[in-house]
Amino acid sequence: MTEVALVIDGVDVVVNEGVTLLDACRSIAKQQPTLCYLETLAPVNVCRVCVVEVEGSRTLVPSCSRKVEGGMVVQTDSERVRHSRRVVFEMLASSVNLALVDHPTREWMESYNVDPARFGPPAAPTSDRDQRHAGHHGEVVGGAAETVHQPIKVDNSLYVRDYSRCILCYKCVEACGDDAQNTFAIAVAGRGFDARISTEFDVTLPEGACVFCGNCIGVCPTGALMFRSEHELRQADLWEEDRQSVTRTVCSFCGVGCNLELHVQDNRIVKVTSPQDHSVTEGHLCIKGRFGYEYVQELGDLASTPVDVVLRRARSDS
Ligand code: SF4
Ligand code: SF4
Ligand code: FES
Repeated sequence: MTEVALVIDGVDVVVNEGVTLLDACRSIAKQQPTLCYLETLAPVNVCRVCVVEVEGSRTLVPSCSRKVEGGMVVQTDSERVRHSRRVVFEMLASSVNLALVDHPTREWMESYNVDPARFGPPAAPTSDRDQRHAGHHGEVVGGAAETVHQPIKVDNSLYVRDYSRCILCYKCVEACGDDAQNTFAIAVAGRGFDARISTEFDVTLPEGACVFCGNCIGVCPTGALMFRSEHELRQADLWEEDRQSVTRTVCSFCGVGCNLELHVQDNRIVKVTSPQDHSVTEGHLCIKGRFGYEYVQELGDLASTPVDVVLRRARSDS
């Protein structure tokens, strides 16, 4: 394997040819913010929070996809980089509900002094995003910042879609498409600010091509896609991650050997994920592994009872 030498923030780095600038940064323990990047998906370069400055390059470059080249001189924390990342985070935070983004992203936003109100107070919610015509933009009223608000889509018993939390990172589209599931049940509809994730003709999930593998939920970084059980527990103010245990096990439905992570709260499975670093699944599952866990719980008449009611009852019994 040919090696490549470059300089990152004044540090000499030698990495294998073909790796990305993000990989090179990580090889010297320099983390960069990412939103649309995931090790198990092809880079789509849409969020631009990972940009770095490369000497001689007119524009900032996305570190998640730009391959290293010999002699590169890279800056990851210059004023230009910090300014660009801050504006990107501010545009997202002004229009999208980022309350459930992960802790590292929150820390990056704090480190850049991100001001979500920079473009004005949030505009009043509208519910017609799915009906908008491409290229027709509404008038800005009173200096308010338009948001991507729309009502939560609850159209099946397994998972919900809350696109007011969607940053359009494309991860769900990639996971549903040729990076994992090859089902192509969802894609980007609309253009510009009206772009949004949608099924074909905005049909409900059960009416569309979705096979309910939940791989889109597994990669969503903002909580826009969420287990219905988690959604209901959050609505009832009963979702408590610090009370949950996560147990790794093997799916019992077939011989493939997918690894599962069972998230258990109050002695009840509330969510199932799959480890990214497992060579069989790379974080992806099918509907049985992701959602077919009720049979391991003795439910009786509770099988049809909403999960928040079940947990309340379990607590009052203990
Ligand atoms: S559950 Fe699976 S098939 Fe359905 S939209 Fe998500 S990734 Fe696609
Ligand atoms: S729903 Fe989630 S994964 Fe899909 S584009 Fe929006 S934020 Fe990304
Ligand atoms: S993480 Fe690099 S462009 Fe999104």
